[in-house]
Amino acid sequence: MFSALPRLLPRAGAAWGASVALQQQGLGLLGSQLGSSSSASGALMSTFSAYDVGQSSNIKWHEGAVPTAEKEKLLGQKGAVLWFTGLSGSGKSTVACTLEHALAARGRATTLLDGDNIRHGLNKNLGFSAEDRAENIRRIGEVSKLFADAGIITLVSFISPYKRDRDSVRARLEPGKFVEVYMKVPIEICEQRDPKGLYKKARAGLIKGFTGIDDPYEEPDAAEVVMDAYDAQGKQRSPEVLAAELINFLEAKGYLKGHS
Ligand SMILES: Nc1ncnc2c1ncn2[C@@H]1O[C@H](COP(=O)(O)OP(=O)(O)O)[C@@H](O)[C@H]1O
Ligand SMILES: [Mg+2]
Repeated sequence: MFSALPRLLPRAGAAWGASVALQQQGLGLLGSQLGSSSSASGALMSTFSAYDVGQSSNIKWHEGAVPTAEKEKLLGQKGAVLWFTGLSGSGKSTVACTLEHALAARGRATTLLDGDNIRHGLNKNLGFSAEDRAENIRRIGEVSKLFADAGIITLVSFISPYKRDRDSVRARLEPGKFVEVYMKVPIEICEQRDPKGLYKKARAGLIKGFTGIDDPYEEPDAAEVVMDAYDAQGKQRSPEVLAAELINFLEAKGYLKGHS
């Protein structure tokens, strides 16, 4: 279904080139504006309005940003957080990545926040204790909310084993903006896949507190989407098929349409 993926890559390169060119034009415009006569910049500035954002040194939430609905109208889509949860090896990263490419091919603005990557940067000071896992999810929930509020379809791929932590992210978002995607894959399959050898290490006692082995995974009980590992014939479903199911969901629920 999305097996045309490798053919998309040259196009992705071209898009990047175009955006760099645009940025350069933008910088050029700024430069000429600074050095330009006041009448030229006056004409440009007459299209702007100043916004009072209050005392920025005070820590208080201030409204004043362009409203989300307006950004969504510009983008022709609705901002949302697609929160992939499931055991290690359940295919969160693979399906999220396949979906992101499929959305990009349809001209959608997306971002993908992936557990491993975020733990290299923003959350590199956090470990795997229950407390640190909660803080990990809280931070990523806040970041994903910022993206969704900007109208971006935000794909988030974290084991996020505790229901309470996932629910507190859900509670931070407007109704309909948090889409829980449960990768319902039995642990035996995840353990067979074990691409990073983590289950093997956990079974050998070399990793403590490993989800599904000696730390619990709490299944969602009201996930918007449940990605079953098997089809009706008992065959494992491919990442392309799972991503296609998610595209259908997004289309059916109106996420791929802006406000009219
Ligand atoms: N639907 C699928 N069918 C078969 N193998 C899959 C599927 N999804 C993922 N995989 C494979 O399983 C392994 C784990 O996938 P990954 O996306 O890294 O899981 P997670 O991010 O949940 O830890 C990878 O080797 C990947 O190629
Ligand atoms: Mg992953």
